[in-house]
Amino acid sequence: MAENNNTQKDVDDFTGVETTGHEWDGIKELNNPLPRWWLIVFYATVIWSLVYWVLMPAWPGIAGYTKGVRNHSERENVAVQMAALNEERAAATQQLIEAPSLQAIENDANLLQFAMAAGESLFGDNCATCHGAGGQGFAGYPSLVDDAWLWGGKLEDIQQTLHYGIRSGHPETRFNMMMAYGRDNLLPREQISDLTEYVVALSGREADAAAVERAEPVFQQQCASCHGADGVGVQALGAPNLTDAIWLYGGERETIHETIYEGRGGVMPAWTDRLGDDQIIALAVYVHALGGGE
Ligand code: HEC
Ligand code: HEC
Repeated sequence: MAENNNTQKDVDDFTGVETTGHEWDGIKELNNPLPRWWLIVFYATVIWSLVYWVLMPAWPGIAGYTKGVRNHSERENVAVQMAALNEERAAATQQLIEAPSLQAIENDANLLQFAMAAGESLFGDNCATCHGAGGQGFAGYPSLVDDAWLWGGKLEDIQQTLHYGIRSGHPETRFNMMMAYGRDNLLPREQISDLTEYVVALSGREADAAAVERAEPVFQQQCASCHGADGVGVQALGAPNLTDAIWLYGGERETIHETIYEGRGGVMPAWTDRLGDDQIIALAVYVHALGGGE
């Protein structure tokens, strides 16, 4: 936009536009001023930025930054909001811990809602890897949405499982083993095959009748102490019901045979050192509500 000193304006022949007088190798610079609206917007943003510097945090310095007249801090706002949220939660958390029983939490609509929301998010963070996002489970990792329970589906049972785990190594863990009857030579191969048929028959499917008959006394002697004389399982021992269609490891002959031959011992971690009491309470309520809570 610089004016040249020539009094005579030089006009470009081709476009008819005045030139600035600058010329490089025969190329002339046309004098096309910026549109007015553009200039107005430009100066407005300059003024806005000056106002912004004064009002808001703007310039970095060595020991911090200019705070601005409004002393605005997004970080402090978040801290204040978090503190308010925590205070709100602390009250509900305290109520969870102080509730006379887990049942009382389920009977209180507000507390239940709080526990379910907290439980759902904790479940996603800590449990879903093993039990599936909705608690549906995988082979060896029990489903938490059905009403079959290894160790019990009452609120307090679930709470204890969560605190101390199963075969977790914690001194108070739930513990019991399904022995490796084949690998450890506790029973001969033929009896393990017979017992496989017996377990198939227990769950109401067609099985080799002669094998089932041979296995009957063996089952009563070897297996009934944990799984019960009729095979319905004993929750205090974590021994699953063998008469239903729900299988922890699988109900096909091969898998049943493998279970009896190799033994089983699924590990559920203890959470008592990793989660707060209130978090375990929320999880117990959540799991209980997932499906088959007793
Ligand atoms: C490392 C894998 C793993 C993680 C993580 C895990 N579990 Fe488990 N959980 C298991 C296994 C395996 C069992 C079954 C143990 C057995 O065979 O007796 C189990 C059993 C359970 C049971 C007992 C089910 C019954 O039928 O009695 C409950 C309840 C449970 N888990 C809830 C949870 C919750 C809630 C979390 C998250 C805090 C969680 N689990 C995290 C592996 C896991
Ligand atoms: C000392 C107690 C105990 C004895 C005795 C015992 N079991 Fe078990 N059994 C268990 C436990 C505990 C489990 C669950 C293992 C787990 O959760 O990982 C189990 C699991 C099983 C399963 C797997 C069920 C499923 O859902 O996948 C089968 C099948 C089974 N037992 C059959 C037998 C047979 C047959 C015998 C007798 C030869 C027997 N058990 C003796 C404790 C026992």
